[in-house]
Amino acid sequence: MTRHFLRDDSITPAEQSEILDLAAELKADRWKDKSLEGPQTVAVIFDKSSTRTRVSFAVGIADLGGSPLIISTANSQLGGKETPADTARVLERQVSAIVWRTYAQEGLEQMAEGTTVPVVNALSDDFHPCQLLADILTIREHKGATQGLTMSFYGDGRSNMAHSYVLSGVMAGMHVRVASPEAYAPRADIVDDAARIAAETGGSLTLMTDPFEAAAGADVMVTDTWVSMGKEEEKLERLRDLGEYKVTTEVMGLAKSDAIFIHCLPADRGFEVDAEVIDGPQSVIWDEAENRLHAQKALLVWLLRQQAA
Ligand code: CP
Ligand code: NVA
Repeated sequence: MTRHFLRDDSITPAEQSEILDLAAELKADRWKDKSLEGPQTVAVIFDKSSTRTRVSFAVGIADLGGSPLIISTANSQLGGKETPADTARVLERQVSAIVWRTYAQEGLEQMAEGTTVPVVNALSDDFHPCQLLADILTIREHKGATQGLTMSFYGDGRSNMAHSYVLSGVMAGMHVRVASPEAYAPRADIVDDAARIAAETGGSLTLMTDPFEAAAGADVMVTDTWVSMGKEEEKLERLRDLGEYKVTTEVMGLAKSDAIFIHCLPADRGFEVDAEVIDGPQSVIWDEAENRLHAQKALLVWLLRQQAA
């Protein structure tokens, strides 16, 4: 059966755990899985800029014995003359999966509806679920397990990263806190989805406006840029509105003494995070960036297995 990974809750909590176990196996033995042998091609499409996502998918697909086809929408018919569904119908006859970084979540849904191969969200305006697989893997590595940990997100609570932390975090049994101004709180429907998942996993979601309260006793501290791709015109307003929701050394000092700091990158040092925090001893950002490779390889292998089942 064709499965897609369009948002964090496209998979169940048990499936998230299964994919992360596989990611740890593939990290321990990088060359062991050749699921894309042939080589089979995977299309990786970008409407927005990328370093980590582009490199980790290209390298990961090659590691699995496959061939990555990196497409920039600026030079393709998608987004201009052709719909996502029509593009998918063309690609599915030649590639084994489609990975797409785009703006509207609806485009991904239309792509998935129109095809028989797995479609993977490589970041949309609403979610960045591949990043969260890497982040949860990183938290597992540094903390042993995720169940019952407290993870505090700072900044734009309505962003793709915040929404993904909310969903993937509660799926992993964590107590997720989002510290943001009320106007930047996570979308209500995603809060509802998180509550439903949390009831199943024992996790929880708490929305907070006090950045100091949100740090108290946290195991994982996390933030992201205040100006996501596509929001550049709102830059001045966002710097003003989100200025208090910064992971400073003072805020980091309120978390547990063994708390870790994560950030999907790219980072704006001095804005959402102090350089002393992101470049300090509690930061695990380079492990996190590397884990994009292992987590996405596991995701692709898992999706191809579902395809064959
Ligand atoms: N974290 C992340 O997705 O980085 P890129 O924008 O460089 O892909
Ligand atoms: N929220 C950021 C994440 C970048 C990886 C953005 O969408 O630009």
